[in-house]
Amino acid sequence: MGKSYPTVSEEYDAAVAKAKRKLRGLIAEKNCAPLILRLAWHSAGTFDVATRTGGPFGTMKNPAEQSHGANAGLDIAIRLLEPIKEQVPILSYADFYQLAGVVAVEVTGGPEVPFHPGRQDKPEPPPEGRLPDATQGSDHLRQVFSTQMGLNDKDIVALSGGHTLVGPVVQFSRCIV
Ligand code: HEM
Repeated sequence: MGKSYPTVSEEYDAAVAKAKRKLRGLIAEKNCAPLILRLAWHSAGTFDVATRTGGPFGTMKNPAEQSHGANAGLDIAIRLLEPIKEQVPILSYADFYQLAGVVAVEVTGGPEVPFHPGRQDKPEPPPEGRLPDATQGSDHLRQVFSTQMGLNDKDIVALSGGHTLVGPVVQFSRCIV
């Protein structure tokens, strides 16, 4: 059976299209695709499959989550995105930050990532410590990606492809803020 996604209104769909256009312009102009992709990932990467808590539900807007050690610098992404978010008030932050990640991949010439709207914002950030720790090894990665998030080794490898934005483009990937 295929996945089922939430349905949203025509007005909501139109706001997604508008946000997408504006995000393309901003991300290209500010040269900030890596930072924006990291925002989308750090929002999603806190998901805990056992308790169904955390995940990409807009909580990164909360300064408490921005202050988690792994999220250093993401306040800049949130500040950059806010003027566009103000133009699409109907969108949840949850959808908006994930859409921004999709557009970041697109702007850098990556694959078209399907976007399904309909996430609702959650009121409370997840606890600190759910994102992977770069100083630890493969057992730790499996603990985070497999046990916590419910993914597998293939997913770890595929998702880590996000770091291709950090390597070759790093010389000119510094955001213009
Ligand atoms: C496998 C576990 C991962 C670890 C341990 C990890 C760790 C890190 C670290 C330490 C940085 C440097 C942050 C800084 O500049 O202070 C970074 C940057 C980055 N990460 Fe990851 N990461 C992981 C997975 C991912 C995934 C799944 C994605 C996206 C799909 C991703 C996308 C990025 C991007 C785009 C940057 C560059 C941000 C920028 O230059 O502003 N990472 N990561």
